[in-house]
Amino acid sequence: MSSSTFHTITYDGKRVVMLDQTLLPHEEVYRVYTSPQAVAHAIRNMVIRGAPAIGIAAAYGIALGAIQYSGDDSSDFEEFVEEICEIMAVTRPTAVNLFWAIRRMRARLAKSADLPVAERARALDQEARCIHAEDAEICERIGAFGAALLPPKAVVLTHCNTGALATGGIGTALGVIRTAHREGKMVRVYADETRPYLQGSRLTVWELQKDRIDVTLIVDGAAGSLLKSHKVDAVIVGTDRVAANGDVANKIGTLSLAVLANEFRVPFYVAAPTTTIDLETMTGADIVIEERSPQEITHIGDVAVAPDGAIAFNPAFDVTPAMYISGIITENGVATAPYDASLPKVMSVEPGK
Ligand code: MRU
Repeated sequence: MSSSTFHTITYDGKRVVMLDQTLLPHEEVYRVYTSPQAVAHAIRNMVIRGAPAIGIAAAYGIALGAIQYSGDDSSDFEEFVEEICEIMAVTRPTAVNLFWAIRRMRARLAKSADLPVAERARALDQEARCIHAEDAEICERIGAFGAALLPPKAVVLTHCNTGALATGGIGTALGVIRTAHREGKMVRVYADETRPYLQGSRLTVWELQKDRIDVTLIVDGAAGSLLKSHKVDAVIVGTDRVAANGDVANKIGTLSLAVLANEFRVPFYVAAPTTTIDLETMTGADIVIEERSPQEITHIGDVAVAPDGAIAFNPAFDVTPAMYISGIITENGVATAPYDASLPKVMSVEPGK
């Protein structure tokens, strides 16, 4: 479930259905996937994207395969599920939620070792559904902690898409914006276009318009003068992976925003479920940054916007050093510097506490 008007991803034990984000905002087309391989293909090709949503999709892909398994040999079943986990793990490299979800499905598989195969498959099916439901709840909690940081009339600048399309619920950074709006705060949003894949213009503006939240689209290069004008109360972004020292990988262009926000004394917040915090990755330098096709830069759709033969470099993410981050808004509270101390604390809070 994502929103009252669209469903980013659904699963019924037989099929995974996704809203095709590559076609938004022009067309709302739902794609039906009946094999784990097809789900993996959809993740790789950005039919679904955004760190938490990628994790949910991978979990459903694993569950789908488990349910479809027809034999009754438990060790063969384990090998079969393991192969699917490996297929999921090579879809996209940066968002740690993908690896977190796979690890959780593997742990559920190991825990069910004494059960007959059909029950083990049902356990995996349940686990995937839980991952999705928990993410929806997590988004609500991030929203509440984040909204408390905003003044009654708030102007927020955001980057990429961190909403219902990117998560199992109302979103992370967009969840904060949605919650503040729901609470009656007057929120105005500036959305970076987010070149080259245009998650800001295609997806964030689409989502906020549906919720009737005041949104103004800007080109990425306009953020500097906007921040200098002191018309923005806070920058809020999402993340694909938070390292143990608080460095944060997010959509390319986030680092420039963070440096500018720091220069012009605008608070720079990162909204992240604890499933995006990776204490095994010590610093941002250890995060694998996905590099995507140069064609995403040299072309818009099928139209070339650079001369034939232009060489383009297209890293999909960058790393913002912890020193630029005012706070990391999680479902368990807001972590602040020093992050090597505050991140383990927000991670050790049990759900519901
Ligand atoms: O390449 P994408 O669209 O998957 O990148 C998404 C982002 O960078 C988001 O900011 C991040 O995943 C957080 S989504 C809650």
